[in-house]
Amino acid sequence: MGNSIPETMMALQLTGVGMDTVELREVEVPRPEADQVLCRVECAAACASDSKIIDQGPEHSLMHGWDPAKWPVTLGHEGCVTPVEVGRNWQDVIEVGRRYAVQPAVPSAPSRYRERYANGGRGIRKIAVGYTLPGLFAEYVIIEPEVIGCSCLLPLPEGDIPHFAAALSEPISCVVAAQQHSFHIIKDSPETPRRAELGMLRGGTTLVLGAGPMGLWHVEIAMSYEPANLIVSEPNDARRETARRFFGERARAAGINLVLTTPDELESVIADLTGGRGVDDCIVALGIRPIQEKSFDYLGEGGVTNLFGGVKADDHMISVDARRIHYESISVVGSSGSDPSDIIETLDMVASGRIQPGNYVSAVGGLDAARDLLQAVREQRMEGKGIIYPSVRKPLEEIDGWSAEQEKKILGG
Ligand SMILES: NC(=O)c1ccc[n+]([C@@H]2O[C@H](COP(=O)([O-])OP(=O)(O)OC[C@H]3O[C@@H](n4cnc5c(N)ncnc54)[C@H](O)[C@@H]3O)[C@@H](O)[C@H]2O)c1
Repeated sequence: MGNSIPETMMALQLTGVGMDTVELREVEVPRPEADQVLCRVECAAACASDSKIIDQGPEHSLMHGWDPAKWPVTLGHEGCVTPVEVGRNWQDVIEVGRRYAVQPAVPSAPSRYRERYANGGRGIRKIAVGYTLPGLFAEYVIIEPEVIGCSCLLPLPEGDIPHFAAALSEPISCVVAAQQHSFHIIKDSPETPRRAELGMLRGGTTLVLGAGPMGLWHVEIAMSYEPANLIVSEPNDARRETARRFFGERARAAGINLVLTTPDELESVIADLTGGRGVDDCIVALGIRPIQEKSFDYLGEGGVTNLFGGVKADDHMISVDARRIHYESISVVGSSGSDPSDIIETLDMVASGRIQPGNYVSAVGGLDAARDLLQAVREQRMEGKGIIYPSVRKPLEEIDGWSAEQEKKILGG
């Protein structure tokens, strides 16, 4: 092995089901085979979705029956990596020393360990980094051939994008992708044919339910569609305040009427703002089944609800008023994850300064703080995103925004 690559490393692994089975373990640094690439993990971010694999283990839809009690998995699916050793097959494709963003959702069947999956892996069409593919809360990670073959290891564009911004391009790209799943059928005049427009209705009323980190990004991306009204409903006072701080001034400057409210007040706010009509777009940025169901009630004619948060496998059936679909053309869409194109679009937005991911960082730490970070996310103690630097050992520190300079400092630069 090359001089600078150690024999062993620390990795945050799930070794069963539940938070008690999440632990930082010393494991071997694997050597890449011909079709693999070994990368150093520059940083990794935590996501509310990490709780789902921790709580569901083999039952999680991306685990396909793989049991972490038998085959521990390294967690972490949002990150920025640098190849340090490239297998023979990828020598002309992947550059040692260049930085890459990871698109964790890989539209492929697994090539390795098929016996670990239910039915020997038959019928699997999507696998993911941080699930059955090695994850990013580790000092090093093996990138499997499916990831590279599906264009899910994406070189950063020219410029000086900090590691944390590259890592956050993944969750932001899920929001970009999700909003492009909403569509409206537009008629420019009674005589012209219908056409479909992707995204939030321009000049309409958009509602975001939940102002967690993902809800905040939904607000940011929704603003690019220039709705007349943008309503954010969130019960947590501190989170509403964060949304006001982030977007109040910008919305005013863009001529968007931003209204922050609570679930209790929401119906009367919508009635007042839309003259009783209802909203054109609703984004459900949380994973609670009754709220998904309720979201249809907020829609006006032609309105679209977008189920962004996933719900539990045993609590996922909702009822929809079929008369409203028929007579009022309301509809529902949803998406999970993003495509490489969404990451590329997001990285371009970051590189050009249109999105500043540093605003959303509210905690940083070394790899020894990764478990605490996941716990804080589970308890909704985080106002924004948490970033882990695997090469560093440092407790979790709460912060109010993060920058390239601060990142250099924590990395000892
Ligand atoms: N579709 C995707 O590609 C994708 C990607 C990443 C995350 N997600 C999912 O998005 C969801 C949101 O992620 P997050 O990190 O922001 O989660 P989070 O749990 O931090 O935030 C959810 C917010 O919803 C609020 N809330 C609770 N009840 C509410 C109500 N009745 N009305 C309005 N708000 C309410 C909570 O107070 C909280 O602030 C999660 O379910 C996550 O798994 C989806």
